[in-house]
Amino acid sequence: MLRNINGHVLLTGMMGSGKSTVGPKLAEALHRPFYDLDEEIVSTVTLSIPEIFERYGEARFREWESGKLSQILSQSTSVVIALGGGSLGQEKVLSLIQDYCVIWLDCPTETLWQRVGDSTRPLVQKGLEAFRQMHLERRAAYAQAATWQVDSAQDPDVIVCTIMQRLGANGDEYRNFN
Ligand code: S3P
Repeated sequence: MLRNINGHVLLTGMMGSGKSTVGPKLAEALHRPFYDLDEEIVSTVTLSIPEIFERYGEARFREWESGKLSQILSQSTSVVIALGGGSLGQEKVLSLIQDYCVIWLDCPTETLWQRVGDSTRPLVQKGLEAFRQMHLERRAAYAQAATWQVDSAQDPDVIVCTIMQRLGANGDEYRNFN
């Protein structure tokens, strides 16, 4: 499956997989703008993610998520985007991202939980077992959409180096591992 590395680079993976930490570092290394999809929604709606879920519900949040993603992807400048962990549950998102390099940051559920288990994210409030089940269910979608999977239990700088090596030192050379 050949994808366009001169286009956008997207980071996917569960909550706590490091997308928002790795994203800005990767963008800096690639000399590209960085967008965190959640932050873009928050700044447009001017409510926090928990407030959006509470006031409007998850379905509405998902509409804003795909709409904002579509908007960001439509620009001609190549960018790095950290997707929200649940965004691949939408067919619309899957079709929007299919032509781009999608990097799946993944690590064991326990590591993810250590990072986000005490956060205010709405979907961690149901506890570890529900989170584990969600991770299990989402893995197929991440695997299906991803160009590569990267072990995100590692240090973020190591993850960025790994991604840069795979992209080619300047990020302008595409190596297809699929
Ligand atoms: C969600 C992940 C969150 C945010 C929202 C829903 C999910 O983003 O979009 O709380 O469904 O996994 P992060 O993956 O950036 O935490």
